[in-house]
Amino acid sequence: MYYRKISCAVVAAAITMSGFAQPKKAALQSKMDQFVSNLIGKMTLDEKIGQLTQYTSDMALTGPSIRAGYKDDIQKGNVGSIFNAYTPAYTRQLQEMAVKNTRLHIPLIFGYDVIHGHKTIFPIPLGESSSWDLAAMEKSAHIAAAEASADGLHWTFAPMVDIARDPRWGRVAEGAGEDVWLGSQIAKARVKGFQGTSFDGTTVMACTKHYAGYGFVQGGRDYNVVDVSNRTLWETILPPFKATVDAGVGSFMTSFNEIAGVPSTANKWLVDDVLKKQWNYKGFVVTDYTAINEMVNHGNVANEKEAGEAAINAGIDMDMQGAVFVKYLKQSVNEGKVKVQTINDAVRRVLEAKYKLGLFADPYKYCNEERAKTEIMSAANLNDARDIARKSFVLLKNYQQVLPLKKSGSIALIGPLGDDKRDMIGNWSGAGDWHKAVGLLEGMKAVAGPGVEINYAKGANISDNKSIVDQMNSQGGELVTDDPDALLKQAMDVARKADVIVMAVGESQGMTGEATSRSDISIPESQQRLMREIYTLGKPVVLVLMNGRPLTLTWEDAHFPAILETWFAGTEAGNAIADVLFGNYNPAGKLTISFPRSVGQIPVYYDMKKTGRPADPNNKYSSKYLDIANDPLYPFGYGLSYTTFTYTQPVLDKKTIKATDKLNVSVTVTNNGNYDGEEVVQLYIRDVVGSVTRPMKQLRNFQKVFLHKGESKEIKFTLTNDDLKFYDANMKYTSEPGDFKVFIGTNSRDTQEADFKLAL
Ligand code: BGC
Repeated sequence: MYYRKISCAVVAAAITMSGFAQPKKAALQSKMDQFVSNLIGKMTLDEKIGQLTQYTSDMALTGPSIRAGYKDDIQKGNVGSIFNAYTPAYTRQLQEMAVKNTRLHIPLIFGYDVIHGHKTIFPIPLGESSSWDLAAMEKSAHIAAAEASADGLHWTFAPMVDIARDPRWGRVAEGAGEDVWLGSQIAKARVKGFQGTSFDGTTVMACTKHYAGYGFVQGGRDYNVVDVSNRTLWETILPPFKATVDAGVGSFMTSFNEIAGVPSTANKWLVDDVLKKQWNYKGFVVTDYTAINEMVNHGNVANEKEAGEAAINAGIDMDMQGAVFVKYLKQSVNEGKVKVQTINDAVRRVLEAKYKLGLFADPYKYCNEERAKTEIMSAANLNDARDIARKSFVLLKNYQQVLPLKKSGSIALIGPLGDDKRDMIGNWSGAGDWHKAVGLLEGMKAVAGPGVEINYAKGANISDNKSIVDQMNSQGGELVTDDPDALLKQAMDVARKADVIVMAVGESQGMTGEATSRSDISIPESQQRLMREIYTLGKPVVLVLMNGRPLTLTWEDAHFPAILETWFAGTEAGNAIADVLFGNYNPAGKLTISFPRSVGQIPVYYDMKKTGRPADPNNKYSSKYLDIANDPLYPFGYGLSYTTFTYTQPVLDKKTIKATDKLNVSVTVTNNGNYDGEEVVQLYIRDVVGSVTRPMKQLRNFQKVFLHKGESKEIKFTLTNDDLKFYDANMKYTSEPGDFKVFIGTNSRDTQEADFKLAL
């Protein structure tokens, strides 16, 4: 094999730079340095630029397929990475082109958007975050990595760690919601899940994206301008990114947006100064799709050549799909606009990633037909997908215990998402095959058993708006539009005969994810009409929601007794939802993003500031609306269970602490309802007076606990000085002596509080 000529002597087979004791780690580091330096020493400028270039594979009916021109480029050494190519056979074929035909036999790195599963699809990330179960999220990322690596992939473009507070933005579906602290924990868990403890061939390199600020696009319009203060950047946007650096993430992706007038992909301060220097990040940085070329549209450069110079000089290491580096960088180096040293640093980072993945030792390490056959969509993986899906559901309302449903009598299942497979796996569903997903009707029949009569009627189209339906279908939406009046009539006939009505309504998967901003985030009018008519029957109705963002549900909340949020729950959606509907599983999910009462309230999130004129219904001149309350319909942290929990007042072991002390906080939680169940016990703090104003509440910890019915448990938390720190008036990260409050409760709104002081 050609590649052996350059690799055998110096490369260990499976290498992790993080999992070893210090001396061993240092030895590996120095072996890698030697190997990579030696290789860079042999490379021409063209070969170096080739390593910084990434192209997509296309998708043919038979599977991934690459353009002829790209094949030539691979064989000439002008490509360092391919994305959207998978399967062991196909990636082997491309890898052979690179290692057999190029002068230095450098392997390709294969990337792909493995966002919530590769072929076994888990709930969308926003849904999964509602489980507040870090171990479960780590596990789903780990399974996704195992399947992806068995299918020829080395690298996933996940996790997305953008804090998002504007549900009009379709990409809220891809993240972990609105909270910085929880978002950082989830970001770390996902990196650990994807990367595991070593790159042994069964894990993949993670990519933290989109660096940075993408969740703050104006008006929730995708790709739009971001204009945030330095404080918002440091307090709210950057912490989850930093958390993944600390967790050892292998790569970063820049965002499409500008920050303070400079597109992220040209933002030297953001990429080079903060990420690479201040945070000492050693991995590589890839752009988002053609983000370098798009700078010409942004208007910070005159042409693509200047865009390439701005990007590489800002610290970008790989050009995704734009072919700007490959076209212009050589000329830029010759003109002295880009230093060879800058190119070398970028090449080093890319080659080190390949080295760490073990690709120099064996470029075909991830092409394992046998693993692909046995591990992908295994029974165990599907079982985990079902379990994690159930954990992600949030019970928003359950008046008079309409849920769980009895396993007897007759049920009408109504709604366009009731017997649907395509939408179950959601957006960004990797290589998932929606035909293999379990729809709700199928799941309900299987779980309820023969004692229940279940009749289905579609009732309405997802949307009767032709423009929206056409946009969905042009992207594989599979939406079939039927006569709305006939659908409604049929649904009313079915509903009239039933004891209970389950309505499966919401969004189609294509209404969420990238490029799916909505100005109206209610359930589409076609389905609202159906809901209004069904309501007139006066029967118990359970709303099963499927959607990728918070929806405005004021009417639904006022009219229906039970509402279960199920997001897009993945391959096992139907089974998992049925488990919850029929009481085989007691839901315990909690929202990680607030559900507004109306679009006019946006942004609405729990860790708001107080203002000089806090909302006061008796004071006209206070910060409020004339027509609506300030608070969301369902707040951050909110979610019910089939059982109920009571909390005692929090007890603190000290009234005053010093910076070196630990403060022990405890609370007794009792399950005083009729079911065993889990509760997410949430702890928030408030710094009452700060050198800069502080949020009313900030999450600092939580515990997810299981309690048998009738059981009480003392839940203990420890707060340290680190939990009290923030960026002070001089942007120094520190705590300030003074009064604090600690709040404990079942969600961010319903808490009980206690006070303490931090002394000098
Ligand atoms: C998205 C990224 C994604 C990339 C590659 C872009 O359009 O913004 O999140 O990783 O495409 O598919």
